[in-house]
Amino acid sequence: MPIPSTYSFTRYLSAKKSVDDRALNQQVWQSLAAALPHVTTEQPLQILEVGAGLGTTVERLYAGGMLTNAVYTAIDIEPTLIAEARRRLPQWAAAQGLQVRQDSQEQLHVQRPGQDIKVEAEAIDLFRFIAREQDQRAWDLLIAQALLDLVDVPTTLPALLSLIRPGGLLYCPITFDGGTIFQPEIDPELDVAIEACYHQTMDRRLLAGKPSGDSRTGRHLFVHLQATGAEVLAAGSSDWVVFAGSNGYSADEAYFLHFIIHTMHTALTGHPDLDAGRFTAWMAQRHAQVEQGTLVYIAHQLDLLGRVSAPLGDTKK
Ligand SMILES: C[S@@+](CC[C@H](N)C(=O)[O-])C[C@H]1O[C@@H](n2cnc3c(N)ncnc32)[C@H](O)[C@@H]1O
Repeated sequence: MPIPSTYSFTRYLSAKKSVDDRALNQQVWQSLAAALPHVTTEQPLQILEVGAGLGTTVERLYAGGMLTNAVYTAIDIEPTLIAEARRRLPQWAAAQGLQVRQDSQEQLHVQRPGQDIKVEAEAIDLFRFIAREQDQRAWDLLIAQALLDLVDVPTTLPALLSLIRPGGLLYCPITFDGGTIFQPEIDPELDVAIEACYHQTMDRRLLAGKPSGDSRTGRHLFVHLQATGAEVLAAGSSDWVVFAGSNGYSADEAYFLHFIIHTMHTALTGHPDLDAGRFTAWMAQRHAQVEQGTLVYIAHQLDLLGRVSAPLGDTKK
């Protein structure tokens, strides 16, 4: 595909789905399926997803047989993404042969015999959500996919875990962990410098004056979870690996690659450690490699499944 002249985060998240489908760690996924509590129509599984984007995790959990009776709360700070999730999910549910009812603008209700799933989607900042819901509601499962590397984990994680019921689960897949690899090499020295500077932008990111990111969030999660008293039930890598086969890149993955390169270009423009001319030429060459179908992109990420501690004698799995 030609180099896009404009970029859409919504299209990027949609293009990311097939990349995530390949990347998600199957052992962690199976551990999640095994750890979920038994649910009934009267006692549905209460799931909260923060930074839910387009709601693609609803589709994936359903396909994996993990959504039978569930109330799924999906929040994201971006109203345009929540609007797109509200547009996509009814279409997806109808395509699954589910009976679709819109209970309200926020709540989608899908059913078939033996299945009853409510999806509530809300555009709200997760810190405002935590402040509003703490001590009001508790979820069986909290999902944060491709999110924790964007926040200050030492302060955010305890607040997020406070929304999980004792003994409940935290699933945080696609958590970035310090590897951004492009092949073929252009200039080994510049390739390494660009990767290092890009990771540095994550490590130095400030939002409202506060640290908001860590390029090695995945590996650091073990210690952060331990510090909260949570147990790591399963962990494994979920690297993105994107390459062109004989028919080119899969699905919309050429767009996904152009978007990643554009994001790095934006983040690094004007970086004092990078020569502007060589940097611009490098970016142009990476876009050209996508057009030619020669670019291979690998991002190192981890999936973790944790359980928050339950009081002694709590028997609900
Ligand atoms: C990399 S995207 C991942 C989206 C989705 N989880 C996925 O994997 O397709 C990160 C998402 O987190 C959302 N986000 C970032 N900061 C947030 C915050 N403070 N509160 C709620 N959502 C946030 C962004 O709007 C974005 O949709």
